[in-house]
Amino acid sequence: MVEAEPVRADIGVIGGSGFYSFLEDVTEVIVETPFGSPSDSLFVGELAGRKVAFVPRHGRHHTVPPNRINYRANLWALRSLGVRQVLAPCAVGGLHPELGPGTLVVPDQLVDRTKSRVQTFFDGEPLPDGRLANVVHTTFADPYCPTGRAVAVAVARGHGWGRVMDGGTMVVIEGPRFSTRAESRWHAAQGWSVVGMTGHPEAVLARELELCYTSMALVTDLDAGAETGDGVNHGDVMRVFAENVGRLREVLFAAVTALPENDGRSCLCSGVHEGWDLGIELP
Ligand code: ADE
Repeated sequence: MVEAEPVRADIGVIGGSGFYSFLEDVTEVIVETPFGSPSDSLFVGELAGRKVAFVPRHGRHHTVPPNRINYRANLWALRSLGVRQVLAPCAVGGLHPELGPGTLVVPDQLVDRTKSRVQTFFDGEPLPDGRLANVVHTTFADPYCPTGRAVAVAVARGHGWGRVMDGGTMVVIEGPRFSTRAESRWHAAQGWSVVGMTGHPEAVLARELELCYTSMALVTDLDAGAETGDGVNHGDVMRVFAENVGRLREVLFAAVTALPENDGRSCLCSGVHEGWDLGIELP
């Protein structure tokens, strides 16, 4: 069913490569934002009494590459439905041999090595309706929601997911190409754990909107510096993701059920702009 707004949701799930739908029996909602169109419609369904809005990050037919995703529109659209907590599965490469395919990493740190992405709602550009956001500097020392991270790790372990890494650093590259061996070895030498293409600016835009944001990074390959073959290829990434998407979906179901409601007070994601005049109102 396709509906115009208003349909409401509490929790957002942003599906990555190989993850194009979440719940059955959903309402399709087309949302336009002051920042343009999201990657696709939002699909809203209910699970354990929580309303969940799903958006496929690359579009339902994987037509949007990581460097062209309208991250601002995706996050704004979720928040405009009422979403306050976001679970963000994504595919990543492991930078160390012990982080092989099938490992689930719930990172606690992020390094941005993207090059050309708008990474703020507060960039001084007037919105189409003439409103102007003020300049805002957002605290981002800890980029992920501690509550969401704890839930994700606990439910994955509770589901018997063999290898779950609690913490670690995700480096985000511009893409859409994979890293060279030299880049990959350099990333590993910095002590970073996994490499992906979509974790930034998604995380910081979520924080600007005061959303609790949890990344759940499924390792689909060993990146070029950690493996001994010809290098990463897209086919392997999609194959390994497809092999794991069933159990990832189950872990996400459990996480949706286990997430405590965001009371707007108890975690560092809420109230980040308290006392500041944003110029625009968050949706
Ligand atoms: N996504 C999945 N595998 C990846 C890799 N090795 N590098 C960047 N993004 C990825």
